[in-house]
Amino acid sequence: MEMHSKGPLAAPLLPLVRTIWRRIPTTLRATRPMRRLGMAIYDRYVRHTDRCQSHYTWFLRNPPQLALVADLILTAQGRTPVRVMSVGCSVGAELYSLMWLLRRLKPDLAIDARGVDVVPEAIAVARQASYRLEAPSSTGGTLWVDGARVLSTSAQAVEEMFELCPDGAWRVRDYIRRGTTWHVGDATDPGLVESHGLQDVVLACNFLGPMEPEMAEACLRNVASMVEPGGYLVVDGVDLDLRARVVRDLGLLPITEDARHIHEADPSKQDWPWTRWSMEPFDASHPDWAFRYVTVFQRPMLERSGPRASLAPEVQARLADP
Ligand SMILES: C[S@@+](CC[C@H](N)C(=O)[O-])C[C@H]1O[C@@H](n2cnc3c(N)ncnc32)[C@H](O)[C@@H]1O
Repeated sequence: MEMHSKGPLAAPLLPLVRTIWRRIPTTLRATRPMRRLGMAIYDRYVRHTDRCQSHYTWFLRNPPQLALVADLILTAQGRTPVRVMSVGCSVGAELYSLMWLLRRLKPDLAIDARGVDVVPEAIAVARQASYRLEAPSSTGGTLWVDGARVLSTSAQAVEEMFELCPDGAWRVRDYIRRGTTWHVGDATDPGLVESHGLQDVVLACNFLGPMEPEMAEACLRNVASMVEPGGYLVVDGVDLDLRARVVRDLGLLPITEDARHIHEADPSKQDWPWTRWSMEPFDASHPDWAFRYVTVFQRPMLERSGPRASLAPEVQARLADP
């Protein structure tokens, strides 16, 4: 990772600091002074690096987050079919994982599940739902798509989710695929809501981070506007300051249940503060902790104003004329 040489630590010293940091015991790293140092490192040297999009994804990437979403869906007395959208869905792992959980918990639930990604090749793979499994073992397996790891989970989950095809590929089972459709689309497009309608749940994970801050904010507001009042927005893999500011401004309500567990569950967010969107240690004493660390938000039934109303005029213009 390329580091900027701003602030008191000269860039050449950073690898040394990084090595020392990694040897510090976790308990010591979680203390307030170390946390402050970590935040300073993140802000000064990491926040502005590595802005590249990828299709990197995992099945069951954040199990407690998916479990909370499934629980919120199943306890809501809403209309059916339940409308769920994964925006920036990549090759489909996130949406199929949620479908697996929902089918397990309520097999007959009517679900309209849509995956949207800006890259047609990713959508084609998601639609095909066929993956290559490598290194299967009694404790689980790792699925690879075009060389990218997409699954690391239990053998039972693999068995329930996939069938082995004669060509050696592992295909998501029909009962999980039922109700899913896949669409090429841009999350920054304000027309997305007209094309797909309001959703009970919008998953917007791990694609806002690589965007420039202004576009990430506009995009977050756009996907939030797709959530039906009373529905839920899941937003992860994004700059924490930006998310906290925008969701608060939109009047979204943080769902704090299992917040720490969810915050710490995604194995791809290790190595804080040296990697962008890595897992800043959960701090329950942070005055804004619910907005800072929570990833699941509810759009209130009654709002003081529409979510788009607070967009800056220049951002509105940019969305209208991309
Ligand atoms: C890292 S993957 C995340 C996949 C999944 N959401 C997850 O959390 O595991 C990011 C995906 O977002 C897609 N993406 C990036 N910008 C997008 C946009 N403006 N609209 C829709 N998809 C986008 C990329 O093509 C990529 O497939």
